[in-house]
Amino acid sequence: MSITTVSTQAFAGQRPGTSGLRKKVTVFQQAGYLENFVQAIFDVVPELKGGTLVLGGDGRYHNRAAVQTILKMAAANGVAKVLVGQGALLSTPAVSCVIRKHGAVGGIVLSASHNPGGPDGDFGIKYNVTNGGPAPEKITEAIYTRTTNITEYHAYLAEDIDIESLGEYTLGGMQVVVIDPVSDYAELMESLFDFAAIRAWFASGKRMRFDAMCAASGPYATRIIEGLLGAPKGTVVNGVPLEDFGGLHPDPNPVYAEDLVSHLFAADSPDFGAASDGDADRNMILGRNFIVTPSDSLAVMAANATLIKGYAAGIAGVARSMPTSCAVDAVAKKLGLPCFETPTGWKFFGNLLDAGKVTLCGEESYGTGSGHVREKDGVWAVLFWLNLLAVTGKSVEEIVTAHWQTYGRHFYSRHDYEALDTDAANGLMAHLRAQLPTLAGQSFNGLSQQWAVALADDFAYDDSVDGSRSEKQGIRIIFTDGSRIVFRLSGTGTEGATLRVYLEKYEADTSQHAIPTQTALADLIVIAGQVAQITERSGREQPTVVT
Ligand code: G6P
Ligand code: ZN
Repeated sequence: MSITTVSTQAFAGQRPGTSGLRKKVTVFQQAGYLENFVQAIFDVVPELKGGTLVLGGDGRYHNRAAVQTILKMAAANGVAKVLVGQGALLSTPAVSCVIRKHGAVGGIVLSASHNPGGPDGDFGIKYNVTNGGPAPEKITEAIYTRTTNITEYHAYLAEDIDIESLGEYTLGGMQVVVIDPVSDYAELMESLFDFAAIRAWFASGKRMRFDAMCAASGPYATRIIEGLLGAPKGTVVNGVPLEDFGGLHPDPNPVYAEDLVSHLFAADSPDFGAASDGDADRNMILGRNFIVTPSDSLAVMAANATLIKGYAAGIAGVARSMPTSCAVDAVAKKLGLPCFETPTGWKFFGNLLDAGKVTLCGEESYGTGSGHVREKDGVWAVLFWLNLLAVTGKSVEEIVTAHWQTYGRHFYSRHDYEALDTDAANGLMAHLRAQLPTLAGQSFNGLSQQWAVALADDFAYDDSVDGSRSEKQGIRIIFTDGSRIVFRLSGTGTEGATLRVYLEKYEADTSQHAIPTQTALADLIVIAGQVAQITERSGREQPTVVT
């Protein structure tokens, strides 16, 4: 057995997007494609030499093969120790947890999150740094630059390691430890939440349905919710991760998790419903006949944090991504907490969490989390809500409607136009940018009310911790009553371009809180269509996904 150096040619287009490099499995299966990217990581992060690396993914097709490739490359690149999840499985938040707990230099997450899996599906790879969070842009750009001029990679010639069984192995001078994917994570959850109270809630006959969507959260939810918390067997459905997610699209929103929604809206609905995505960092929260928007979920968590064991001493502040509704801002204002607005992408929360400026963060894209790790965390969010239900004795609907009574309601919806022609989508954004100088002060008339624009800009973020600036993060149109329309192109798609239109309207009047969301937002939907010339430019009459 020995180290081999393989000549390789650079592949175009290996720049990581919002959350790592995502391409079709078939692209990653090209000889050298994965290897080039991984070698670029080792070249850009020399601390990995002699250090510990965490490795695992969401269980999708090609994970196992990729793990074997990466192990051999890690051994050849001088990594001292790799902690790899059994069966190549480690949820994204679990990778973050394990990096932090074991003092690893970093981690490699093999996931394309909620994108479909299987031989014809998507694959992805992402590097996480020492704090457990996604690599900042400085590092992802350096990795990308390296992929453009790479000429060789190193691998250790050896048999595959048995990653299906727990145990310790050696690969050249490198130690490989196949770890239980759940235990470190479960221990962290137990330190944050009142497991006894949740156990009592289940023991009193309350019921829950957790849909793991045949993806990574299954083993975590089963061990914690059915095991440690004593929920009846069958509480977790679709709990076994499958390489193609059983053909499901593991994205927890009312469109892709419609089976869960229908159970929560059925006559004998459970009290609580939740789902998580491919790599278990996203979450959707439902009550009986009730859907909680991710923006409201964050606001409710912030307002009630001190009821939860791990946050009883109070929270330092909150952060949300720019397109996320301002519901949490209202809570922060009332409680006197700092509130930060960042670009889309969990990585922007890392500095704020590291600096102790915030404790809770959230995004409209079904992501919530806290300083316990540096990724958003689906199972954590579900346990937070379970803990809240258990200590208040209230239903999900009671908690959220009471929240609206105190803080007002932020009606919110996202309209996605998927798989658009890239030029058309870029043209639409350019058209919006061109209007920015003249939008402020304009009024839109002939609708149910007059809408005057207070501010229109292309969101830019100055990181208060490292001083970096991120520009062109989305077009914001903010009206004088605080209502907003935001436009941006997705950074995670793999086919053409996806236009996201985020719509938000604030309503203080409680007598208006029960009207349907799309009705409440009807004027804003019309204005968005007009300003962006959506139909003319995209050829679409309707969005493909409305959440
Ligand atoms: C990933 C990231 C999130 C981000 C989301 C939406 O899930 O981890 O932080 O909010 O993608 O990204 P997109 O660019 O598709 O709107
Ligand atoms: Zn995800």
